[in-house]
Amino acid sequence: MNSPEIVTIDGPAGAGKSTLAREIAKRFGYLHLDSGAVYRAIGYACKLKGVNLDDEGEVLKVAGNLKVELKGSRVFLNGRDVTEAIRTPEGGILASKVARFREVREVVVNLLRKMAEGKKVVIDGRDAGSYIFPKADLKIYLTASPEERARRRFKELKEKGFNVSYEEVLKEVIERDESDRNRPFAPLTVPEGAVVIDTTGKSMEEVLEEVGKLIDP
Ligand code: C5P
Repeated sequence: MNSPEIVTIDGPAGAGKSTLAREIAKRFGYLHLDSGAVYRAIGYACKLKGVNLDDEGEVLKVAGNLKVELKGSRVFLNGRDVTEAIRTPEGGILASKVARFREVREVVVNLLRKMAEGKKVVIDGRDAGSYIFPKADLKIYLTASPEERARRRFKELKEKGFNVSYEEVLKEVIERDESDRNRPFAPLTVPEGAVVIDTTGKSMEEVLEEVGKLIDP
């Protein structure tokens, strides 16, 4: 069997999607597309411009006029490296707000499909397998308990020097799950045909091994 052209990884915040996608890209020679990073970059740009995040028209104007580039694991906004600036707890909330809007999502989806043209890609997000690439050869849905996901995020943020409490991170994880699952357009769901992997209590190495067998049996 040939290895899949497109691998999608969906799931809630903190399930380990980005880390897994990055490792798959490295190990199997795929291009990694971090779809959340695009929503984060748009949310960040809106904040810099002082845009009201409840005003769909204003957010769409910003999204339509931005240049977002994903180069390896770096994210560029109009040529400026914003990788660290967008990966904050606030960045996640801003992203989740702009991601509610259908037309904003369409801008992002078109951009991601274009980036993937003619390439072998691994893409992580909330709707990668259900909406962006419904015909993907391999769909994975990663999940873990909210407490475990909050613990991982908390550790990661602490290591980066953020002054946050575990309770705050857990609250943010639960709120973001709510918002991502309940939005009317392209909500977070288990895509049809996806392999569901619960990563609670598993190391990234174990998960990578499991997924590696699906990519290169
Ligand atoms: O994955 P990450 O935490 O960077 O995603 C930030 C937010 O962007 C998510 O909470 C979600 O609201 C939004 N998102 C989305 N669809 C995607 C990827 C991310 O709605 N495919």
